Amino acid sequence: MQVIETTEGFRKALEAQRTSGRPIGLVPTMGFLHAGHLSLMERAAVECGTVAVTIFVNPLQFGAGEDLSSYPRDLDRDQELAAEAGADFLFVPAVAEMYPDRMLTTVSVAEVSDGLEGSCRPTHFAGVATVVAKLFNIAGPCRAYFGEKDWQQLAVVRRMVQDLSYPVEVVGCPIVREPDGLAMSSRNARLTPADRQAASVVSRALFTGRAAIETGVGPAEVRRLVASTIAAEPRADLDYAEVVQEGTGWRLLAAARFGTVRLIDNVGAAH
Ligand code: PAF
Repeated sequence: MQVIETTEGFRKALEAQRTSGRPIGLVPTMGFLHAGHLSLMERAAVECGTVAVTIFVNPLQFGAGEDLSSYPRDLDRDQELAAEAGADFLFVPAVAEMYPDRMLTTVSVAEVSDGLEGSCRPTHFAGVATVVAKLFNIAGPCRAYFGEKDWQQLAVVRRMVQDLSYPVEVVGCPIVREPDGLAMSSRNARLTPADRQAASVVSRALFTGRAAIETGVGPAEVRRLVASTIAAEPRADLDYAEVVQEGTGWRLLAAARFGTVRLIDNVGAAH
């Protein structure tokens, strides 16, 4: 696996791979890799000729007072894990490499960015869309793998690709969970032992909600059920619980804080 720090180096390395005719799999991450990230890389390794992983803790997507400075980082460990999962290239730009000057250009995706995470973190999705647009521009035509834990982020990226005609196929991949149901997230590492134990209430509430909606309980009541289940955990501070229509089914989503750590999760449900 080759580690690359410059945008030019990354662009040229992928350009050289493109002549093979097999697709390039891009896995954008913010590092502190876990089994969820590794599942994206392993899938990309099966489906693509080249796997390119990016690790960049993107300041643009953190609001004031959010956890940019405390976001967990361990590049040495990440390098080992990415190589084992089949990465051929690891792009690890510094902030000054990605943003050499003040950013005067922002990509924002209207409507899809509203509500849910967009209500709690008003500048977040513009920061995500802007950095993902940059990564797509640097990487060139590729298949890009994203986890479904960030369900709204996936919708934002898909819409940006559609609206701006990026030559990128976006691949959404299932959430990977801990044995107690907690969705894998780099932020889980920052939970205290007591909060870690309490945090499984989020997935438990969503699974309970899914069972209810699939037996015919209405979405408003299911939303209340998910919210009250999470709120009953004294260590949880609920941001939101929502039920939205998705195709012919439903998507149940929730966000809650445990101490200083904010977690999100979601599950799909049949109609
Ligand atoms: O999901 C993430 O890790 C980030 O939001 C992403 C897509 C890498 C953009 O910084």
